[in-house]
Amino acid sequence: MTSDTDTPSLWSALREMPTNVWRSIFRNPLPSSDLGRAQTSFSNFFLHLHPAKVHQHTLRPGYTLGLGLMSLFLFILLAVTGVLLMFYYVPSTAQAYDRMLDLRGSVAFGTFLRNMHRWAAHGMVAVVFLHMCRVFLTGAYKAPREFNWVLGVVLFLLTLFSSFTGYLLPWDQLAFWAITVGTAIAGYAPVVGQQVRFLLLGDYTVGQEALLRFYVLHVAVLPLALTGVVVIHFWRIRKDGGLSRPDDQPAAPATDPAMPVPLTASVGGQRTFGLMGFVRGPFTKVGNVPDNTRWSWPDLFIAELFVFVVTLAALMVVSLLFGAPLEEPVNVLHPPNPAKAPWYFLGLQELVSYSAFWGGVGIPTVEVLLLLLVPYIDRGKQGVGRWFAKERLLANTLFLTLAFLNVVLIVIGTFFRGPNWAFVSPW
Ligand code: HEM
Repeated sequence: MTSDTDTPSLWSALREMPTNVWRSIFRNPLPSSDLGRAQTSFSNFFLHLHPAKVHQHTLRPGYTLGLGLMSLFLFILLAVTGVLLMFYYVPSTAQAYDRMLDLRGSVAFGTFLRNMHRWAAHGMVAVVFLHMCRVFLTGAYKAPREFNWVLGVVLFLLTLFSSFTGYLLPWDQLAFWAITVGTAIAGYAPVVGQQVRFLLLGDYTVGQEALLRFYVLHVAVLPLALTGVVVIHFWRIRKDGGLSRPDDQPAAPATDPAMPVPLTASVGGQRTFGLMGFVRGPFTKVGNVPDNTRWSWPDLFIAELFVFVVTLAALMVVSLLFGAPLEEPVNVLHPPNPAKAPWYFLGLQELVSYSAFWGGVGIPTVEVLLLLLVPYIDRGKQGVGRWFAKERLLANTLFLTLAFLNVVLIVIGTFFRGPNWAFVSPW
């Protein structure tokens, strides 16, 4: 170190450069006191979104499974890789497919970038769905979190729609026919179905107008909407008192056999407390609960960093091992048989094969309405903050049955349907 009056030599400036650069960004050393831990949360732009302390139940990995955070990190990774892809992509039916080939053939890390974007999109649909299941199965949608659950349902729909709009952009056979089938499902709605379809496609068939609309929805409208709703989702978590958890049990009074029993009495069934000035021994404060909180710095932040690293590493490994599909360029005269919607809509397509109205409109509408209304129908306060609480057996069984049926339909549509939507064996 040099004193204030010394002119530091070039050598000492170089030697101290890492420390000086670090200090110019982070003005305070890593905190070692409680005040410092609190200040770290308050004074950092990103960390101040968190409370200075969180309940220790929130930090249990087995409670949230990190699924909400994973959803967020996948969304951020999608935004980053998506912006990089925008440097190459052109939303024109004449160029889109060629740009995909360029990405594969002549852009450094182009294939890897596209793989990451593609698998993160599929991953986000799956992880957001699993996060919704965890929230339901721990009863976390109950008061005061009802509205945050409703926001969650909106996030789930926005996630599905974001993935769906991205599906068209490579402009290959897979994209073209998946969107043709997907938007046909929307067209089954009575009265407004065809108008909705026209609004989406900007035409009667999937073509240049549809590509442009899907592009604008995919890169601007839906990400902005998702960002806005995610921010409110997080703000609500703070306002609802942090994550759900079982009620804290009052602390057992500290007992010291040498001390007299606290002055408490019962008047008409009500517990009363004596003047504490007269009590020599330990006493139980009214509403006394043990301090079950932990400083966000470092416990919460390290847990978050861990989830981020795991998410990023898993995505990179999958993207190195598996290539995102790119089929032949669009050929409107040669539909594949069967033409399938994206996998998350294949359950609906399976239902459409039985009844266009029920598969395309009736059942999805009822499911979304049920999801939106569930916290306002199920008003009991029992079993919040615990997985598979006995008190919530009925609600959990109904939810799991519905979720399971949806998954089974998706599996049938994906693996067991062949030409002309006939049953085939996947083996
Ligand atoms: C883009 C999608 C989403 C993101 C980024 C997101 C993010 C998060 C995060 C980070 C948490 C706190 C940690 C955790 O619980 O894992 C959380 C909690 C919560 N989320 Fe989400 N979420 C999304 C979608 C959903 C969906 C689809 C639902 C339900 C339909 C939902 C309902 C809730 C509720 C009610 C909480 C509070 C849970 C509690 O108090 O235990 N979220 N979300």
